[in-house]
This record gives sequence, C-alpha cells and structure tokens, in this order.
Amino acid sequence: MPLARPIVFGNWKMHGLRADALALAGSLAQRSARLSATLGIFPPATVLAEVARRVADTALMVGGQDCHDKPEGPYTGCISAPMLKDAGARAVIVGHSERRHGLGESDDFVCRKARAAIESGLLTVLCIGETEEEWLAGRRFEVLTRQLDGSLPDSATAETLLIAYEPVWAIGTGRTPSIEDIRETHAWLRRRLAARFADGAQMALLYGGSVKAANAAEIMAQPEVDGVLVGGASLHAEEFWRIYTSGGGA
Ligand code: PGA
Repeated sequence: MPLARPIVFGNWKMHGLRADALALAGSLAQRSARLSATLGIFPPATVLAEVARRVADTALMVGGQDCHDKPEGPYTGCISAPMLKDAGARAVIVGHSERRHGLGESDDFVCRKARAAIESGLLTVLCIGETEEEWLAGRRFEVLTRQLDGSLPDSATAETLLIAYEPVWAIGTGRTPSIEDIRETHAWLRRRLAARFADGAQMALLYGGSVKAANAAEIMAQPEVDGVLVGGASLHAEEFWRIYTSGGGA
C-alpha cells in the first residue's frame, strides 16, 4: 500500500534527552490516534525504543536517523537496521547531508546502507542534495545525478524507499529555494525515477530544508512534492502538527 499523502517526517537530529523526547512524542501521540495522511518522527537512537512504546497505540511512524550497512559486527558506535527494527522503528533515514558532508559518507556507503535497510524491511528515506557552492555553480542536476546513480540501489521500490531532496544550503539556515526551483527539481527527479524504475512514478518525493508552518502549504502544493522532511521545526509539537495539517493531513 502506498503511504497516504502528504508524508510529513520530523528528523530530531541530536536533540532530545528522555524527558523532552517523551513529552514531544506524547504531545504528538495525543493528536495521532488516527491519521488521514502519514506522520513520522525520527528521534535519537538512545530514546527510540521508549518513544516507539509511547506512540505504539497511534498511527505515528517512528524511525531511526541512520543505520550501518551490516546487520552486526565489530563496528563500535554503529547501529544496524535490524537493531533499529528491534527497537520499534519502521523507517530509517540514510544519506543525510550531515553524514555525507559532516562525516564523509560516500555514495557507495549510503547505497549499501539503503540496501541493508530495505532488506530489513525498514522504509528507507534516502536524502540527496547539492551544496551551496554546487548550487551557485549551476551544478545541481549533475550532483543529483551522481547521488542517484551512486546511492539509490536498484532494489528500491515505491513501497520500500522514498527520496528526500534537501539542498544542503537550505538545511537549518532559514533559506529555501524558490517555489519554481523546487518545482523544477522535483519534476526533474520524477522523470529520472520514472525512467529508471517500473514504479518510479509512484516513488514518494519529499522536500527538506527550512520547512516551517509558514511555507509548508505552498511547498506541499507543488505537483511532484509528496511531503516534507522537517528538522528544527519538528522539535515543537504545535509547529510540526501545523505543518502536517497545512499539507492536508488530519
Ligand atoms: P531543517 O532540517 O528543517 O532544520 O532545515 C532539515 C533536515 O535536515 O532534514
């Protein structure tokens, strides 16, 4: 079954001690007994199991922020896809720019992570996006082509994976591309996916980067935007819920 649109995912990044994380999850859980669309939260691994238990009776999806490409082994500090699943995750983000650029993860490593996540039965959120330098140099589509070719596995389907387009220069900066640019990039991504995958026309495409309640409705109204991946604004229950409802979720 395809995920109901809009798809609104909140990446908490490295935020949330137990008390705050459970309060935020609880506040969202109260509104999410039943959902007309798709709402998900991606808490830090330390609180994932507790958050998953807290929202277990609701329609909220819980996911991890990253996984290793191996199911287990001598990889100190890493977390595998089966471990996330065991802790209650139904989804996982891979290839976030804070890991690609901040931690030097290659397209190939991200591809192996995505494959491992799919094999474990986790819905995989693959992030791609150009840096400011690449954007200014007019290299957006060249970079996205390289990332799609290098980190999107052939085993992906519309049921198992979705793409989040996140311009690196829009993440946490309060700046976003123009609506025309978002529309153009998403239309381009849709064509690439449809050309490569039998069900590429159905593969969900999210936009991410400085999404707030104030701009979410316009972004989600664009034809090939199936939802949003939200960072900072997902740490506030009221704001995150407003993003969800402004895209038509109830
Ligand atoms: P932001 O982060 O909403 O704080 O810009 C988005 C993301 O990194 O997914």
